[in-house]
Amino acid sequence: MNKKIISVINQKGGVGKTTTVVNLASGLSMQGKKILVIDLDPQGNATTGLGLSNTENSEQTIYSVLNGNKKISDVVQRTQFKNLDLITSNVDLSGLEIETAGDSRRAFILKDELTAYLNDYGGSYGYILIDCPPSLSLLTIMALVASDALVVPLQTEFFALEGLTQLMKTIGRIKNNLNPDLSIRGILLTMYDKRNKLSGEVEREARNYFKEKVYQTVVPRNVRLSEAPSHGLPVLVYDKTCLGSKSYFSFTDEFLNQDKPVESAA
Ligand SMILES: Nc1ncnc2c1ncn2[C@@H]1O[C@H](COP(=O)(O)OP(=O)(O)OP(=O)(O)O)[C@@H](O)[C@H]1O
Ligand SMILES: [Mg+2]
Repeated sequence: MNKKIISVINQKGGVGKTTTVVNLASGLSMQGKKILVIDLDPQGNATTGLGLSNTENSEQTIYSVLNGNKKISDVVQRTQFKNLDLITSNVDLSGLEIETAGDSRRAFILKDELTAYLNDYGGSYGYILIDCPPSLSLLTIMALVASDALVVPLQTEFFALEGLTQLMKTIGRIKNNLNPDLSIRGILLTMYDKRNKLSGEVEREARNYFKEKVYQTVVPRNVRLSEAPSHGLPVLVYDKTCLGSKSYFSFTDEFLNQDKPVESAA
């Protein structure tokens, strides 16, 4: 089974989706995996976080694919990082929902384009990581339909778990109707503040409820993580020894271990 298209998703804003996509992509690429990041957010934060431009009027974006003007192979760009390619996004993408209103199969556009691309160039990427916008709108539905599995960043703050109920319902609906093989690969606790009692409480509740689906790695609140994007660099490149980097290196290992074949107990 090849579960390689992974969306990083949570409809709540500012929980660490983009930070997770950028640094997981960076960590995996450093381990020799070839990675394609698809920025599916009109904010274009994964684009700038990986050092490319999200200015308007570029044709080489995911928007051009979703509106039918280009193929995936036309819009893949190299980043300055080895093994790491990117499909950029910009604010143009915010018009897609209205522009495709008459298309009854629009939820499948991304899946169909990716499937066609993988049939032609399938062997080249170890993983395709999709950065979702903070909503449950068309773009997120497209990601859910196109994905094999999901990584859900969960900010260890008040209300974090409440938002998750709505997300789980949406995932359930997509599984029932549009993508039966979709699975949750794991939940990543982010912005953990060990001085704040609430962080520990949210962690306990999440582990209690979602059990082994919650990654052992916990991403701490770390200022280097918030500085790195303004330099167009993953934190793993910007400051590889800071606590934020340590956590994302550890998360990368956990993520990769999920795909290691289980050794038989001989
Ligand atoms: N562990 C962390 N410690 C400190 N700052 C962080 C951490 N993770 C992310 N940030 C910062 O918090 C902000 C939100 O993070 P990020 O952009 O990754 O969230 P997001 O879920 O992608 O947001 P959006 O929903 O707007 O797309 C960013 O400025 C980011 O640099
Ligand atoms: Mg984001």
